[in-house]
Amino acid sequence: MNRRFFLTRSLAAAGSVLLDAHAQPSAEASLLNRGVTSGSEGASHSMPASELSHVSFPEGFLWGIATAAYQVEGAWKEDGRGESIWDRFAHTAGKVKGGDTGDIACDFYHRYREDIQIMKRLNQKSCRFSIAWPRIQASGTGGPNPKGLDHYSRFVDALLEAGIRPLCTIYHWDMPQRLEDRGGWTNRDMVSVFADYAEIVTKALGDRITTWAIFNEPSAFTYLGYGIGVHAPGRKGEELRAAHHVNLAQGEAFRAIKAACSKAQVGSSLSMYPATPRSNSEADLAAAERFNAKTNLFFLDTAMRGEYPQAFVGEPPYDLMGFQPGDGKLMQAQFDWIGITYYGRRIVYDPGPTVEPKSLRFAVEWPSEGPLTYNGWEVWPRGIYDVVMQVANRYRMPIEITENGCSYSDGPKADGRVPDLRRISFHRAHLGELLGAIRDGAPVRGYHAWSLLDNFEWADGYSQRFGLTWVDFRDQRRIVKDSGQWYGRVAGSNLLVE
Ligand code: FCB
Repeated sequence: MNRRFFLTRSLAAAGSVLLDAHAQPSAEASLLNRGVTSGSEGASHSMPASELSHVSFPEGFLWGIATAAYQVEGAWKEDGRGESIWDRFAHTAGKVKGGDTGDIACDFYHRYREDIQIMKRLNQKSCRFSIAWPRIQASGTGGPNPKGLDHYSRFVDALLEAGIRPLCTIYHWDMPQRLEDRGGWTNRDMVSVFADYAEIVTKALGDRITTWAIFNEPSAFTYLGYGIGVHAPGRKGEELRAAHHVNLAQGEAFRAIKAACSKAQVGSSLSMYPATPRSNSEADLAAAERFNAKTNLFFLDTAMRGEYPQAFVGEPPYDLMGFQPGDGKLMQAQFDWIGITYYGRRIVYDPGPTVEPKSLRFAVEWPSEGPLTYNGWEVWPRGIYDVVMQVANRYRMPIEITENGCSYSDGPKADGRVPDLRRISFHRAHLGELLGAIRDGAPVRGYHAWSLLDNFEWADGYSQRFGLTWVDFRDQRRIVKDSGQWYGRVAGSNLLVE
């Protein structure tokens, strides 16, 4: 089911973002200081359109493309892979649109060499991918499965051979089902279990992979999977406890990785949504700040500062979270870099005092002022500027955009081409805003388009196509879309060509 449908109706959102450290005395800056964006008619921070194609990105900018194991690999039972929560969820009737599953997906497990050649042809410098935990530990604990490690070892070698940097996400949502049977992220034991897994993969691959993202979008998977149950494992009302354990696991995994591999550069990939308050009332502004704290800063302040964000801890629901003395220290992880995934903004308002705990007193609407993509997500390029500047000002660490992309259903025309012009406009507009952020001092060193291939879009199955490459799921034929060709030219020239 569509994430938009559920989020529109719920109080806690799946992510957001806001700035906090602009010193200019403008009205906008004062909003940003409170973690709130003005949403002023999509005002742009990029160069004028006519200049865009003449300004270079920084030398060595990492042009990349992102994938995730469950969404592309298939081969769900091969080479000793165990069952994941997404296998179980997708195999349960009514959970995924059209009854789709990731059993075969894009067959990337077998076809990665051919797909790496696509990346190479498109001048890609970085490939963000994730490791399927159940390929490494079928049941989530115990010694590693050599066949699983070998697969990723070969994959990484093939990337390096093609001159592409591997950026590895350790957890992109596919937990071994056997761990879910023990409570999944609601069980505090997961903290050390996860750190063990992180140690295994970094020990095995850390000689060749130096850039690691511990988690993908923790605010999304804890909310969707444990808060409202529309993603695996389909639990409800357990978000806060799961999220706190994920924060602890992030800190413990960070230390395990650093101990296993001295050259590891470690971060996480966080989804960020700027909040536009629905009105200028104090109540809505405060709700937007709480939203920012809960969705955007919740897994970053904990890592970088060892504490939950201020707007969240007004009345901390620590009992619901299972917070124990000393946890602040355990959550800490001095990241070497920060990953941002950006898909849009949210309109936020105060739903009134009946919502408890107060830390979660915010309600969210999905905006529709900008054009909508095929799955109904608003196109809002200036938001990428807002979230990048918030992270740049607040943490002062190197930033990579780990995902940014859009769903459009364009398929092949009679001449065999896929002219997905709206996707080109989408990426060009977002990259223009990113250039604005770089101009304003944000240390952004890379951008990953989501995604290399059309793929299994979680509860939406194959109904939403985010790829720069079109996939025919009947025979696995690939056609690089016009957007892919365009992105290849951008990566090759370091310029936002037309
Ligand atoms: C992000 C997920 C990614 C993909 C895109 C469309 O939230 O990280 O796996 O589904 O959305």
